[in-house]
Amino acid sequence: MKFLIKTAILSAFSLISLASAANEPIACDIDNKCPEDVPCCSLYGQCGTGAYCLGGCDPRMSFNISSCMPMPVCQSRTDTFKDLSSIVSNSEYLGDASKHGWVSSGQILQNADTVLLAMPKNSVGAVLASTDYMWYGKVTATMKSSRDQGVISSFILMSDVKDEIDYEFVGKDLETVQTNFYWQGALNWTNSQNISLSDTFENYHTYEIEWTEDVITWSVDGQVGRTLKKADTYNATTNQYQFPQTPSRMQLSIWPGGASSNAPGTIAWSGGALAWDGSDLEDPGFYYVTISEITVDCYSAPSGTETDGSKAYVYKNANALASDVKITDDNTVLGSFAATGNDPDRGADDSSSSAAAAVPTGAVAGGDANRGNGSSSSSSSSSNSGGSASKSDSSSSSGSASKSSSSSSASSSKSSGTSNSASSSSDATTTSNTKATTSTSQSDSATTSDKMGGWVQNSKQTSTNTITTANSGTSRTLVSSFLVIAVIASAMAVLA
Ligand SMILES: *[C@@H]1O[C@H](CO)[C@@H](O)[C@H](O)[C@H]1NC(C)=O
Ligand SMILES: *[C@@H]1O[C@H](CO)[C@@H](O)[C@H](O)[C@H]1NC(C)=O
Ligand SMILES: *[C@@H]1O[C@H](CO)[C@@H](O)[C@H](O)[C@H]1NC(C)=O
Ligand SMILES: *[C@@H]1O[C@H](CO)[C@@H](O)[C@H](O)[C@H]1NC(C)=O
Ligand SMILES: *[C@@H]1O[C@H](CO)[C@@H](O)[C@H](O)[C@H]1NC(C)=O
Repeated sequence: MKFLIKTAILSAFSLISLASAANEPIACDIDNKCPEDVPCCSLYGQCGTGAYCLGGCDPRMSFNISSCMPMPVCQSRTDTFKDLSSIVSNSEYLGDASKHGWVSSGQILQNADTVLLAMPKNSVGAVLASTDYMWYGKVTATMKSSRDQGVISSFILMSDVKDEIDYEFVGKDLETVQTNFYWQGALNWTNSQNISLSDTFENYHTYEIEWTEDVITWSVDGQVGRTLKKADTYNATTNQYQFPQTPSRMQLSIWPGGASSNAPGTIAWSGGALAWDGSDLEDPGFYYVTISEITVDCYSAPSGTETDGSKAYVYKNANALASDVKITDDNTVLGSFAATGNDPDRGADDSSSSAAAAVPTGAVAGGDANRGNGSSSSSSSSSNSGGSASKSDSSSSSGSASKSSSSSSASSSKSSGTSNSASSSSDATTTSNTKATTSTSQSDSATTSDKMGGWVQNSKQTSTNTITTANSGTSRTLVSSFLVIAVIASAMAVLA
């Protein structure tokens, strides 16, 4: 009898693996490039078109070097976020950086003269990423972090080949900001250093990253907190400077580092499990990061850079070092969400295709893709495919997304089943929280105005986000969980 149950359940899980494998996006990493029809490898290690070919598209893992779209060059500016007009949702953005400075995923709210990145209960958080790329320069954000164990905020620079320069805020310790850097996604725990400061949730601080070819400086409130020299990153074995050196987007985010679906190393680093019971979830109804101002000051490209225009940075080859980048006048705008760098006009005349905006999902979009110990790749890869809260540990060890394709062992089937149901419930909660938040905002003055001032939400964004969530896997994962339940139920029926 016992054996029978086990077999029935095991076959239920194999069924699910098969069922979801058919619908899941194709995974990509450094050894498995995307196929020609969905040529672009997203930040989260999945192949697609449209938004997959914009920010975060990794040229080393995509079909060929022209699959990802050219990257809009850096625009010096100051954003004071008096309204949300500089922000566009990632389900609408097609690559025209001249119209919007920032592209969002998740809930972005306006509160007086600030912008909030919101993370409702069981959601994956929110990201604001620049539409343009900095290739050396200085970026400064005046902001307050989120708080609570397991809740992470970040302000980072990240390139499409996963060079990174980070500030990260671990909500359990509000008197420390962590600084970190990565070269092509390689995780090295010794790269992290702390800066002490006064409560990052209660107080605005001004966080600055100055990045030149030779040195990176992290300064808080005008005081230098850390300096990293390129010379100190030389690796004699590979004969390379393992120093961030490729055009990078500026990103601010909030994400659930302590979510139970994350790798143990990520949860430990984030201060421990996220209980989703903090007071911020009652009032104002979500964890949040507050951004008051961002200033971008672009520096020149390295001398000797091949220059054939002034609009876009383009990788010449997949080595993806600074010397492999050129500047061109290439088009950065896609014709539709079906288009790619290989075929930028695809679907441009077909209004139905542009209606279906598939956007990269997976993790939180959260900040750096590199956090985590890589040791637990099965949890990260399965939750990546489910769109649940998971820091993408996949790229941690070698910059390669270690998608553990459904092997036949009992444990891997089990973990993919578990993660599917977890992610469907988190998607569902995200959707209902979105509605809850919207209705709160209507009766706003009674409940939240004291604390938040009259924050308002861009309703267009809300509905888009809801649609995005639905498109990006809820139905698939729901189907999978129902399948689990149905098959287990029928196994039980057989036994009875
Ligand atoms: C990339 O692939 C496309 C076909 O999808 C081809 O037209 C193009 O020439 C290729 N580019 C390079 C640089 O190989
Ligand atoms: C991490 O960086 C340190 C200092 O550069 C170096 O000694 C160490 O070998 C690196 N570890 C790995 C795994 O690359
Ligand atoms: C930074 O601070 C955190 C506590 O907030 C601590 O766990 C971590 O070890 C510190 N990192 C370094 C490099 O000192
Ligand atoms: C040098 O780079 C290689 C490959 O990235 C890495 O495995 C090794 O740990 C690095 N060594 C040091 C001293 O950082
Ligand atoms: C990550 O792994 C390294 C070695 O593999 C270990 O030294 C470190 O403590 C781990 N960090 C966490 C937070 O588990």
